[in-house]
Amino acid sequence: MTKNIAILGSQFGDEGKGKIIDYLSEKADVVCRFAGGNNAGHTIVVDGKQVILHLIPSGILHKGKINVVGNGTVIDPKVLFAEIEGLQKNGIEVTPESLVISENAHVILPEHVDEDKKTGGKIGTTGRGIGPAYAAKVSRRGLRVVNYIDKNHEYSEKLRPFVKDVSLLMDQFLNENKKILFEGAQGTLLDIDHGTYPYVTSSNSTVGGICTGLGIAPKKIDKVIGITKAYVTRVGNGPFPTEIKGELGESLRKVGKEFGATTGRPRSIGWFDALISKYAARINGFDAIIITKLDVLSGQGKLKICTGYKYKGKVIENFTTNSEILENCELVYEELDGWEEDISKATKYEELPENAKRYLKRIEKIVKVPICIVSVGPGRKQTIILKKEFLF
Ligand code: GDP
Ligand code: IMO
Ligand code: MG
Repeated sequence: MTKNIAILGSQFGDEGKGKIIDYLSEKADVVCRFAGGNNAGHTIVVDGKQVILHLIPSGILHKGKINVVGNGTVIDPKVLFAEIEGLQKNGIEVTPESLVISENAHVILPEHVDEDKKTGGKIGTTGRGIGPAYAAKVSRRGLRVVNYIDKNHEYSEKLRPFVKDVSLLMDQFLNENKKILFEGAQGTLLDIDHGTYPYVTSSNSTVGGICTGLGIAPKKIDKVIGITKAYVTRVGNGPFPTEIKGELGESLRKVGKEFGATTGRPRSIGWFDALISKYAARINGFDAIIITKLDVLSGQGKLKICTGYKYKGKVIENFTTNSEILENCELVYEELDGWEEDISKATKYEELPENAKRYLKRIEKIVKVPICIVSVGPGRKQTIILKKEFLF
């Protein structure tokens, strides 16, 4: 029986992690964030109403779940309380029983936000102070939550009841066989070590970040699932080999509503890049992947899957973070027939058009990881289960 599941972004973020975490939360006991901060924007749609979470785990919309924010994250207290208030206005209770913050998480200070706004332009950061806060942490001059609440800071009183020793708590949850979801933020290619450096975020969004960011051992992670958009998007700067420019890109952006959940910036759109997906599967050890936004590809004509980067006459089949290659390669594509049908109401795999099934099968074959869920819309019901064995 699956005890806990890691849900990780396998591309450049915004793969639909929030939707999937919310969907899986129903059967979970605990949902944990382990990296990043309010640079994340995780969108959940319940009964047609949209909620965007930035720091609070996406389990919060289900009553009675414990939501944990680990030591690997960075926390802007002002933003945290604004988010809590926003949820409470919508009738969602946030209490020290439902939300736990690690005493070892680092605090994003106003000066970090100012610095990011001044210097983040080259990377195209979210301007939330993420990089400067992690820089302070790594250079050992950061402020941890435990020290923040000790002193007379603006939000220390309010924050104190939420603050706990998260590693100890996680150990207790694991011993009690609680069902745990690890909620990834960002994506594999935004990882500080494994992403397209320097066009990355400042934390480990890949699987290792779960252990360091919550204080749990690798053996405790049961299933690792990659969230994979049926095409690729990127927001902010940096290489994007399969980017589609022009009308088709515009059309996909419009249909897929591809605008940043945190900054509102238009996301660049690209074809499915099998090299990226294979790379993410390798770095994270995916047991399975979840394909999201398949519905967006309906009626878009022929579809392409990138299977190689041709550089200096040689075809490369494994992703590289070498920007010289990423920016100057020719792309090797396979072309597949698309489908016209609206699939947003499909509830079973069998209901999908043959060409949609072919597209999924081709992805599975190249990436060599089974697909366990296909998402065909932002809502909870728009979720097709293919393989239960990877889920709770
Ligand atoms: P996250 O950062 O990975 O949680 O993803 P975002 O919330 O930033 O972006 C994903 C967007 O796609 C959100 O607006 C979701 O509501 C939406 N979404 C998620 N899954 C699907 C899907 O299968 N189809 C469609 N059309 N939209 C989806
Ligand atoms: P979720 O969790 C997409 C991008 C920014 C920028 C780079 C560095 O919603 O998938 P930062 O503010 O982290 O220093 O910015 O990383 N970025 C994201 N892109 N989704 C995210 O999170 C992102 N978090 C950061 O656009 O390119
Ligand atoms: Mg997002």
